[in-house]
Amino acid sequence: MKVLVVGGGAREHTVCWKFSRSNRLSGLFAAPGNAGTADLATNLPEIASDDVEAVTRFAVDTSIDLVFVGPEAPLAAGLVDALAAENIAAIGPHAAASRLEASKAFSKSFMSSYGIPTAAYRSFSDGDQFEKYVRGARNRLVVKKSGLAGGKGVFEDDDPEVLIANGRAIVDAKDEVVAEEYLTGDEVSVFALTDGSDYLILPLCADYKKADAGDSGPNTGGMGAICPVPWITPKEMEQIDREIVAPTFRGIADAGLGYRGVLYFGLMMTADGPRLLEYNVRFGDPEAQVLLPLLRSDFTNWCEAVARGSIAGFPAGYLEASAVGVVVAAGGYPGSYEKGLIVSRLPSHPEDEALVFHASTTMHHGRLVTGGGRCFTAVGIGRELLNARSRAYSAARGITFPGSWYRPDIGARIFGS
Ligand code: AMP
Ligand code: GLY
Repeated sequence: MKVLVVGGGAREHTVCWKFSRSNRLSGLFAAPGNAGTADLATNLPEIASDDVEAVTRFAVDTSIDLVFVGPEAPLAAGLVDALAAENIAAIGPHAAASRLEASKAFSKSFMSSYGIPTAAYRSFSDGDQFEKYVRGARNRLVVKKSGLAGGKGVFEDDDPEVLIANGRAIVDAKDEVVAEEYLTGDEVSVFALTDGSDYLILPLCADYKKADAGDSGPNTGGMGAICPVPWITPKEMEQIDREIVAPTFRGIADAGLGYRGVLYFGLMMTADGPRLLEYNVRFGDPEAQVLLPLLRSDFTNWCEAVARGSIAGFPAGYLEASAVGVVVAAGGYPGSYEKGLIVSRLPSHPEDEALVFHASTTMHHGRLVTGGGRCFTAVGIGRELLNARSRAYSAARGITFPGSWYRPDIGARIFGS
């Protein structure tokens, strides 16, 4: 089987790594890939991940059997629709279903149509109406850009003037703005694989979205993740499935969205039960980096079950281990940051203890250089969260480039901090 992985982040490096361990593979390509995937796959640096036409042309010309789409942008741009027109199997939804992530206005209305518990909200395309609503609100609000924002489209602030300014900027940029009730609780990421009719819930992950220790500072794409999540009980998991996951898939079937791929539920565990904050139509980054190393059996088989519609009987198996991922970022992230920084050192560990996944790195005149804000994810694997965590930090410490930094408390909460 020939596989093409679309994307160039640490999530896609992880997906390539997982595929590369499959003995059913006859070819592995990454568009565009990064310096990490170059060791495992043929990179296609000239093909941008959201260039639907170029990706489709390559897939047709190279007789690709399966395309795994990592990021949201190509999904929203209709890559899977274009591949389907050429009879090429893909892991990822069509553009219509991608609106579950690409439009918060659409996903919030989907949630309310199908009775899925979420934060109360209103969406606006008019700045004055939005401002009036925020001024009149009695409870704390969060303000969100409706369209894709790379995890950085959510504004929280005690000061309504700040919310109004941010919301108006969204409307001025011709997007809708969503104002919603501020919820408190622990966040958890649930991933389900679906083949269009059945679904399989994967081990739970938690993503550390805030930039700084103790969940402070601005929101980011995710500074680290753990898998599984020890503080969610089986009873809570059952409630999540019953109240959120199952009704979502009933809604997807009812709305005729025809979904094959990964659906991600970003949840807040509030005092009143689980609430759905958002859907993503793909694996999370950095959640994929901690989830995929724990999946047993050939990854090609997992994907084939999704593509062929046989996820219901799939013999899913997981390592009895924990994984902790620590993102090593460029100085300045999630604000502006420098690219092209020379990486002088990478750690080397046995694969069953620690892995280093690259994001947007390239080789330049024989040297490894950074290309993004979140540059690497160092993943530790161990029987317990504690040793997974110390392995992850040991690997993170071994990644050296100017200005690099990481959050010091990923996975620490279990120890009472
Ligand atoms: P979203 O893109 O909707 O997942 O939001 C990104 C992050 O913003 C979430 O993971 C939360 O940390 C935070 N957030 C989003 N919505 C809310 C809410 N209603 N209340 C509190 N925090 C929120
Ligand atoms: N880690 C959150 C995301 O991938 O959007």
